[in-house]
Amino acid sequence: MAVLSDTRRADAWQFFRTWLKAPLRVAAYGPSSPALARAVAAAARPGRDGLVIELGVGTGALTEALVEAGVSPERLVLLESDEGFADLLRRRYPRARVIGGNAYGVVDIPDLRGAASIVSGLPLVQVPAGPRAKFVLDCLARLGRPGARFVQLTYMLSSPVPLPLLPGTAAEVSPTVWANFPPARVWSYSLEHGASVS
Ligand SMILES: C[S@@+](CC[C@H](N)C(=O)[O-])C[C@H]1O[C@@H](n2cnc3c(N)ncnc32)[C@H](O)[C@@H]1O
Repeated sequence: MAVLSDTRRADAWQFFRTWLKAPLRVAAYGPSSPALARAVAAAARPGRDGLVIELGVGTGALTEALVEAGVSPERLVLLESDEGFADLLRRRYPRARVIGGNAYGVVDIPDLRGAASIVSGLPLVQVPAGPRAKFVLDCLARLGRPGARFVQLTYMLSSPVPLPLLPGTAAEVSPTVWANFPPARVWSYSLEHGASVS
């Protein structure tokens, strides 16, 4: 237990130092809480087979909850732009595929087709609304699998992607997770039955 606490403390410290260097890109003072991470992992439907792609991974708070929910590390593809975080993830999850770089390029990686879901901790709302919605629609189209989800955590009250910009998409939101600073929600987007996005 003491080891776990030390790890959490070290992660929080690395996160905070990285936020000081790049506050906009990191967009939070510390990693998501275990309660928020569990809500994200549940929304990603971890029981489905296939890869789970995580975007904006940080120190791996959501990754840990995904693994606890039954996603084996071999099924994880982790995209993180900060090299310090990417190195930490490579050490912690040697059997996962860690890609250091821009997660908005995920639409071009072949692994996306047929994956079970995408889990995003990216500060997506910093992208203008039109390109933001296009990114989510492109991801869903590339997943190309009924029921596959794009799961996004947010500190906003409303959908982080304006719903009118997501035609043919079903959206679901979790209850507010109060045990996180700031309180957060988890939005899940998937293609509606029979919908196709070009
Ligand atoms: C709000 S933090 C979330 C971290 C982690 N998912 C969590 O919930 O604790 C956002 C993360 O996204 C990463 N990030 C921001 N822009 C990115 C980009 N374009 N590509 C990849 N990672 C990015 C940041 O470095 C940071 O680790």
